[in-house]
Amino acid sequence: MAGNWKMYKTAAETTRFLEQFRPLVENSRHCEIVICPPFPNLPAAVAAAQGTRIAIGAQNLFWAKEGAFTGEVSAPMIRAAGCSHTIVGHSERRQYFGETNETVSKKTIAALDAGLTPIVCVGETLEHRESGRTEAVLLDHCQGGAASLTAHQFSSTILAYEPARAIGTGKTATPEIAADAHRIIRDFARRVHGPQAAENLRILYGGSVKPDNIKSLMAQPEIDGALVGGSSLDATSLAWIVNF
Ligand code: 13P
Repeated sequence: MAGNWKMYKTAAETTRFLEQFRPLVENSRHCEIVICPPFPNLPAAVAAAQGTRIAIGAQNLFWAKEGAFTGEVSAPMIRAAGCSHTIVGHSERRQYFGETNETVSKKTIAALDAGLTPIVCVGETLEHRESGRTEAVLLDHCQGGAASLTAHQFSSTILAYEPARAIGTGKTATPEIAADAHRIIRDFARRVHGPQAAENLRILYGGSVKPDNIKSLMAQPEIDGALVGGSSLDATSLAWIVNF
């Protein structure tokens, strides 16, 4: 269960959130919990999550280890800050910041090389869905982000299916639509990396996940977890989702 905070919260708000959230998930041993705050708040989040099962992740990274890349942050830096995960290729980055399959692939490999678990996002837009291209887009994103990985790298990678039309709109994909997309992604994994890799692959659903729809989404055997945006900003809501 992962929370993507996007561009919300200061460092002080991050600490306050974790102080409130920690006791609410103290006994939650059934899943991994990852929170992804903005870069400047990673140290505050790591400090506040110390000694708990809550892992901290970044929302993006650059593929070079270091260099003259003004404004960028590398995987080793994120790792050194105490993070264990990073989101890669979120649809907002594809939409607003020119992220492509090629950059997603480079960032995924950089994250793995630094010992971070990448959460690689794939998903169609409304336009893609309405023109019947959902499967082609999903396969294209999977191909771009995960086909070049070795079996070992793939086994350390989490995929997240996020249909862009469901993000921040309150319009979650129906659990059945989400499960169909997850099946397409798992079939891809089976073809490229074999049945065991497909079986072990964790695929998260993201897009308007809320306390009141988590149960029906997670009732789909194909859905292994959630990547939660808006509802992850409130400690009680995220704890409810974790403990559904
Ligand atoms: P919302 O949960 O706000 O729709 O955002 C989903 C998302 O983009 C998570 O990465």
